[in-house]
Amino acid sequence: MSQETDKLYQQMLALIEQLNDYSYAYHVKDQPKVPDAEYDRCYLELQAIEQQHPEWLQINSPTQRVGEKPDNGFANVAHTVPMLSLDNAFDNPALEDFDQRIRKLLNTDKVQYCCEPKLDGAAISLRYEDGVLVRGVTRGDGLSGEDITSNIKTIHSVPLKLRTENPPAVVEVRGEIYMPKEGFEKLNKLALEKGEKMFVNPRNAAAGSLRQLDPKITAARPLVMCAYSIGYAEGWQQPASHYDGLVQLGEWGFRINDLMMQVEGAQACIDYYDKLNEQRGSLSYDIDGIVYKVDQIALQNQLGFIARAPRWAIARKFPAQEEMTQIEDVDFQVGRTGAITPVARLKPVFVGGVTVSNATLHNKDEIARLGIQVGDWVIVRRAGDVIPQIVQVLTERRPEQAKAVSFPDACPVCQSDLEQVEGEAVIRCTGGLVCGAQLKESLKHFVSRKALDIDGLGDKLIEQLVDQGLVKTPVDIFTLHENKDSLLNMERMGQKSVEKLLASIDKAKHTQYNRFVYALGIREVGEATARALTKHFDALDELLTASPEALIEVDDVGPVVAQHVSHFFAQTQNIDTIQGLLSAGVEWPKKQQLPESELPLLGKTYVVTGSLSRFSRDQVKDKLQQLGAKVSGSVSAKTDCLVAGEKAGSKLAKAQSLDIPIMDEEAVIAMLTELGAI
Ligand code: IVH
Repeated sequence: MSQETDKLYQQMLALIEQLNDYSYAYHVKDQPKVPDAEYDRCYLELQAIEQQHPEWLQINSPTQRVGEKPDNGFANVAHTVPMLSLDNAFDNPALEDFDQRIRKLLNTDKVQYCCEPKLDGAAISLRYEDGVLVRGVTRGDGLSGEDITSNIKTIHSVPLKLRTENPPAVVEVRGEIYMPKEGFEKLNKLALEKGEKMFVNPRNAAAGSLRQLDPKITAARPLVMCAYSIGYAEGWQQPASHYDGLVQLGEWGFRINDLMMQVEGAQACIDYYDKLNEQRGSLSYDIDGIVYKVDQIALQNQLGFIARAPRWAIARKFPAQEEMTQIEDVDFQVGRTGAITPVARLKPVFVGGVTVSNATLHNKDEIARLGIQVGDWVIVRRAGDVIPQIVQVLTERRPEQAKAVSFPDACPVCQSDLEQVEGEAVIRCTGGLVCGAQLKESLKHFVSRKALDIDGLGDKLIEQLVDQGLVKTPVDIFTLHENKDSLLNMERMGQKSVEKLLASIDKAKHTQYNRFVYALGIREVGEATARALTKHFDALDELLTASPEALIEVDDVGPVVAQHVSHFFAQTQNIDTIQGLLSAGVEWPKKQQLPESELPLLGKTYVVTGSLSRFSRDQVKDKLQQLGAKVSGSVSAKTDCLVAGEKAGSKLAKAQSLDIPIMDEEAVIAMLTELGAI
């Protein structure tokens, strides 16, 4: 090798190491070291060298994460050691029985357990020879599974090579591949918009993604692998406890669950369950229970197995997030933007901790995809705070009198024509504010807490005001004081409540520029976009006349939003409404006093979580932003400070683990006061 060629070769090795290090920091540690653009730059540089010298290709190069398609499906491979399943305990007494059984068999008073969240994905066994990933196999029937190595390699949290100089000759690492909730929701939202098949739950999405014959499809799916045990090893002395084994896997570059914990005795196991059951909704991934494992490996070996499950471990399941019920009817609702949404009325069912009696069916395609009929038995899923979904029709249970659902061919409220934009799944009413339903929804949005925040103007009252013709546009809200008598005649409105309502309408006239723009209800313009627009265009006039090209310049505004915004302001009736509101006295403080470069929190990223008592979370966020801070929804290494109110959950835990400064309500109020925001 010439000196120059050798230099290029060394450069390639350095790039591989650098990129793998960035990738580990990002995908395993959640602490990105460089911006994505820098990663991409190094990746391209590496790719160029590899193309020039294909003979140099390294097995752990990040470019090897997307491989060739397997020709004939996946080969079946026997597991070196069977992949077992777990027995279930459905309540505390069953868990106590388990602990008692173990104590008796081991003839001891107290047993140490390792408690871990039971991740809801697909099990995988990864074989490393001399530290290099050689095979990834699904659980299959526990004795043998499918070789899905090319797909596994596309998952960034799976190390292609162990991060150690002295790897075992052979080690088989077992773990769960899962799809975090956010990625799952994005994937399904995209499928819904395109009218494609949606996944029932993150577990099915993970399993389905792994079984794609084309690894490029798997690569595009947001999958994560978390290691939970060592299945088999050669040429290596395993640590004495399961917990230390997992810590070792962490050091080798695997993601391990940061909530795992060593505890002693049954009561501590129950406490752990209770704590996680509470946190479950706020975790970024689905868990369906807790796994308890006797921690000492020597004791595990002593206890052994019965049939297909170990005696030394048990799964305690959380309450179900999926239940069965029947569709009693399907109604069609008209939303603020005219979208017609079918809603299933259900026989009430208790699922995911609440009683569910309605579920959205999203759009016409979704009805067809599910093949739903009135009278059908369906599976309803409610996970965390996510709205309930119908995920499957149990066609084999379909009653004889089941009736097909027919989508209306005119607006069910105002009888205007319906339209469907090509390539979109939504069908909309063309009536605009002539449509009573759209008017009501627009008004509800206009007065809502994050918009003009008019207290006392609830949904029921808005419905009456529209039905009686007293309010035809948002401007009419500000002339309601001229109609006091009519207000007094409304249901549940006495002298006092009318006075209160009029006072809060008056108060709402003094608002903020970003709230005003949000309140207009422009399609796709949520709170954050409204804020970005008003930050970019200092004066309303500039925003009203901005071209789509100028709008695209705004942070987070793409061509679709730009189109919606400019279309909205091109409608004379919208401009009339805006003028009407301004004439009625709606106003906001003009321009910030400080030039941007002097804002005291410029460049700082804050996250606000938990419940606050003196101010709402949104008010605190507004004030932090006024002072120049960026407010983010999730904690990462880039967070400068977490504001944590009462009952702060996983964000607080994460901030603590990352050593991020934490402020309570009192501290943040003191800071905001000092900086003049309060
Ligand atoms: S241990 C012998 N730990 O649950 C021990 N399993 O029925 C076997 N799972 O399909 C597994 N999280 O994929 C273990 N922290 C965890 C787990 C876990 C999820 C899955 C596993 C298997 C099923 C067991």
